[in-house]
Amino acid sequence: MSQHLPREAALYHSPSPSPADTWRITESAFAPTRQHTGESLFTLSNGHLGTRGAFEEGYPGDWPATFIHGIYDDALIGCTELANAPNWLPFDLLVEGERFRLDHGEVLSYRRELDMFHGLLTRTVRWRSPAGRTVDIAIERFASLADPHLCAIRYEVTPLDFDGAIEWRAGLNGHVGNRDTLHWDILGHGERHGIVWLHSRTRGTGIELGQAARLTVAPAGESERFCLDCNGYPQAVGRVRARRGQPISAEKIVSVFSLRESPEARITAIEKLQGLGVGYDNLRAAHAGEWEKYWRVSDVVIEGDDEAQQAVRFGLFHLLAAAPRHDEWVSIGPKALSGFAYRGHVFWDTEIFMLPFFTLTQPELARNLLMYRYHTLPGARRKAAANGFEGAQYAWESADTGDEVTPAWVPRRNQREPVRIWTGDLELHISSDVAYAVWQYWQATGDEVLLANYGAEIILDTAVFWGSRAEWNADKGRYEIKDVVGPDEYHDRVNNNAFTNHLVRWHLETAQAVWRWLEQNHPARADALAAKLKLQTQTFALWADVATRLCAPVDPVTSLIEQFDGYFERRDVNLAEHLPRAASMQVLLGIEGVNQTQILKQPDALMLFFMLRDRYDARTLRANWDYYAPRTDHAYGSSLGPAVHSLLACEIGEPEAAYEHFRRAAQADLDDVRGNTADGIHAASIGGLWQAVVFGFGGLRLAREGWTATPRPPAHWQRLAFRFYYRGKLEEVDWRRDG
Ligand code: BGC
Repeated sequence: MSQHLPREAALYHSPSPSPADTWRITESAFAPTRQHTGESLFTLSNGHLGTRGAFEEGYPGDWPATFIHGIYDDALIGCTELANAPNWLPFDLLVEGERFRLDHGEVLSYRRELDMFHGLLTRTVRWRSPAGRTVDIAIERFASLADPHLCAIRYEVTPLDFDGAIEWRAGLNGHVGNRDTLHWDILGHGERHGIVWLHSRTRGTGIELGQAARLTVAPAGESERFCLDCNGYPQAVGRVRARRGQPISAEKIVSVFSLRESPEARITAIEKLQGLGVGYDNLRAAHAGEWEKYWRVSDVVIEGDDEAQQAVRFGLFHLLAAAPRHDEWVSIGPKALSGFAYRGHVFWDTEIFMLPFFTLTQPELARNLLMYRYHTLPGARRKAAANGFEGAQYAWESADTGDEVTPAWVPRRNQREPVRIWTGDLELHISSDVAYAVWQYWQATGDEVLLANYGAEIILDTAVFWGSRAEWNADKGRYEIKDVVGPDEYHDRVNNNAFTNHLVRWHLETAQAVWRWLEQNHPARADALAAKLKLQTQTFALWADVATRLCAPVDPVTSLIEQFDGYFERRDVNLAEHLPRAASMQVLLGIEGVNQTQILKQPDALMLFFMLRDRYDARTLRANWDYYAPRTDHAYGSSLGPAVHSLLACEIGEPEAAYEHFRRAAQADLDDVRGNTADGIHAASIGGLWQAVVFGFGGLRLAREGWTATPRPPAHWQRLAFRFYYRGKLEEVDWRRDG
């Protein structure tokens, strides 16, 4: 059943890294054609902003980008997107007037390295200029986790065979776009007491951004300093005479504030640097210390498989980095803050794939993410009302307000007509996915404040939506949910998607339980919610009736759950006959073509066993696994699939399949398996990977009475250890092969 066809040999890690390498990702050559993949992988984020790993000196065709949580703009395009912020990276080096570039002169050695333990990106280069001067260069940067408004770069140069002038130019470049879309008006730029600043504003949403940069050159006494005043691109310049063999360095410290954090973003950014009593080293130490704190709880230790260890840490590094720390009004998109794809919108990827990692290892971050859904309830209510329903219907793609932002049409590759995208209209399960995440968080944390004050409202108002959305079919004596898209987006506009319907049944049952809990434990809140959401006796009676009589069958003979009405009548295709291939089955058969078959883009009915394992017996899981797994486009369908299959394979005792799917998820970005890492890393795959390791190989089960773990790791793993909070207490599983 191997559909895994690695495109290229491992690009960004040695195939067998040593144990020390498992905290690092390295790049050993500058490859102009692979810049974009490296930019995604080497993104540095700090819960406030994320900056792609583009180079300080800039290259033709590069995609430098900084995405700041919550800074969306809708100028000139139909739907809003995270606006690529003015670039804080530019840091040019001139060696006796010759500009350092990797595509000029001679690169004698090169290494780029991401230190995931401390959140540092470094580059060491030995470069010979076209005129024959040789320098050693060491550049290090970070986006501070200790102070989310600060980023910093240290640039060290050692002349190896000459004495001469070294000049640095540290700038803030306002001339940026999201590819072709320009989101910023430049309001001003300038210099104050040696600090250059840039003031800009998004063109549609009017969010002001203030950025400031301070350049320090050591040894300070010998340097000459001035500023270059280029419109929208101020630069601080430092010039110094360097001597052969003696390292000299420059530091660029950058502050970033938006109107979302300060009414005077420009002034605040400048004053932040003026009042900064410390330099690069102190900021770096505070930043690295913060990373250590997160790793202490969130790290997963795998011994006996360094490649897996490295990949898991790589993924968790990106998830931890992207999670908003001080902001409940934003969430994490499928590419986190590392790429342009999906425009920074928020999908079910967050609640179903990423959130369990946060709920169990950093519950306060999980809380922020759930609060985003609470704050966007008004948008969900607008969506329900616009569609003629009651309650709250979450957006399939959500941004700043919670209103639906899925593009209705997207251009089709090599085709004239665009494609109609139905997910924004019809991929309804998102509303229950959010409710599910609230419930899971409550079960794991016991955070009564969140459930009573915010979570219950989410669960109840989305239940109100389902009460009005389910249709009674008098002929069949059952409720139905027609015209939807399930998780498997190869099939749209189907009736009675099993995943949706089974989940809705769970949702309506859970809503009743939440209501009872609220009435008993927080009667005043229950009264307030009853009034606000118009909850009446008939509402609860309807939920009970829909939950009981909703079409959600499991075949009593075969135990199969049909994905949607008529799925089994679609053409059955043997995927093995389509090997080898290097594209998704949708690309090969066409959108309409694949829709006529039983081929799945990603697990659909199987998601029920991933999310609601306790509601189905082992026989039902096995029957559905046997049916659906071979019909799924594992290699080129959705990146959300492999981790789910890995976990389920653990459940049914298929260790080889579990490991094969695990690897596919683990290497998704490091091997650029789908060829689209350039557009950003796959954050849901990473969240799923953590679940595959912890719930799958680690066998962790959370139940009302407590937790249990029955580890079943791959045969060659020697140790698997992880920590998690359960009801406020830090717990640990530390499994070793020999006891
Ligand atoms: C998948 C969805 C997912 C989205 C964003 C789509 O290709 O089918 O399940 O939410 O990508 O990652």
